[in-house]
Amino acid sequence: MKKLFTHIGQLVQARPTSNNLLRGAMMKDLPVLKDMWLLTEGGRIAGWGSMDSVEEITADETVDLGGAMLMPTFVDSHTHLVFAADRDEEFVMKIKGIDYQSIAEAGGGILNSARKLQETSEDDLFASACRRLEEVIRQGTGAIEIKSGYGLTTEAEIKILRVIARLREQFPIPVKSTFLGAHAFPHDDQEKYIKAIIHEMLPQVYSEGLADYIDVFCEKGYYSKEQMCRILEAGDKYELKPKVHVNQFNSIGGIEAAIENGALTVDHLEVLSEDEISLLKDSDTIPVALPGCSFFLNIDFTPGRKLIESGLPLVLASDFNPGSAPSHSMSMINALACIRMRLLPEEAINATTYNAAFAIELGHEVGSITEGKLANFIVAKPGTNPYSIAYHFGVDWIDSVYINGDKY
Ligand code: NIG
Ligand code: FE
Repeated sequence: MKKLFTHIGQLVQARPTSNNLLRGAMMKDLPVLKDMWLLTEGGRIAGWGSMDSVEEITADETVDLGGAMLMPTFVDSHTHLVFAADRDEEFVMKIKGIDYQSIAEAGGGILNSARKLQETSEDDLFASACRRLEEVIRQGTGAIEIKSGYGLTTEAEIKILRVIARLREQFPIPVKSTFLGAHAFPHDDQEKYIKAIIHEMLPQVYSEGLADYIDVFCEKGYYSKEQMCRILEAGDKYELKPKVHVNQFNSIGGIEAAIENGALTVDHLEVLSEDEISLLKDSDTIPVALPGCSFFLNIDFTPGRKLIESGLPLVLASDFNPGSAPSHSMSMINALACIRMRLLPEEAINATTYNAAFAIELGHEVGSITEGKLANFIVAKPGTNPYSIAYHFGVDWIDSVYINGDKY
């Protein structure tokens, strides 16, 4: 089945090839082609060109886009989409000035989410996750990573990962799964819990094929650098590549250790030293910033401008979760990146589409309008241009989302 989309006013992020991450000054280059057509076949991109040549193209169906902007769907490489309940009571505490760590110490935080999730059935978790993921796609995300981490027992962590596996079956977009058993300690016996991760959870995660990646929250009051290394080394035996939470509130050596353990990405980085930027420059590990979390917790933003100016690649993700980033809007992430991190709109779009695909090893499948990639794209409302996404922050600019060439 060939579908031809004609009269595309602006075709954004069309690239003949997509082999490498964009880094440094390359990030400000965003291809925008005017008055174009796009052809899809079997759910994939089959070609694109200028409307001058549209007569030469044959298709089973033609969709006239009437001058609208078309761009690839966003790739959200860091989410905690499977959770049992909102934590809006903590939101009010935050408004009153109580900080993230104090809320956690008062019985809130990750342990609050874990208690609720342990009591929720797999089917109920799946139902709420389905509702969220549907909305995520409607808001323009066409590939996603989802973490466990609100279980904190073998049974509950496996339950989350099975929900993620069911989402992958149920939904038409690529879903990557990350095992985050080491999100917090469920009790004071840290050694006992780490042993459960290594000797109970990891073997089961592996034997059921439930995860693509392994994550650890390396932070004061959570997992030390040494504890993270033990867990990542154990994960390596089960072929799980690290994608880790580091440097959110404190720098405790997590970046260096993550690089040594071959991490695909290091995520958060709100606190970042010059030395750590140098370490990243000498590595293949990708920095991922989560501006929704900085905005919601009222903490520093990751120095994204500085990372780009140091010649590094940058990825932006939502961190969608009930505690520190309760929004999955990648449009909002674009706005925060531009307004608060001083990224150019082109850099923000590259960091949420093209580069973001590499943060979940899907650079060959999504992130740009490139022949052979999945036909996952957004058609914008009239009058939208690439700048509108961040400029009209919080305003819905999406007319429709196409997944595998079909309107979602
Ligand atoms: O990425 N920092 C650790 N984990 C999540 C938040 C978890 C929570 O507060 O529920 C994050 O921000
Ligand atoms: Fe997170």
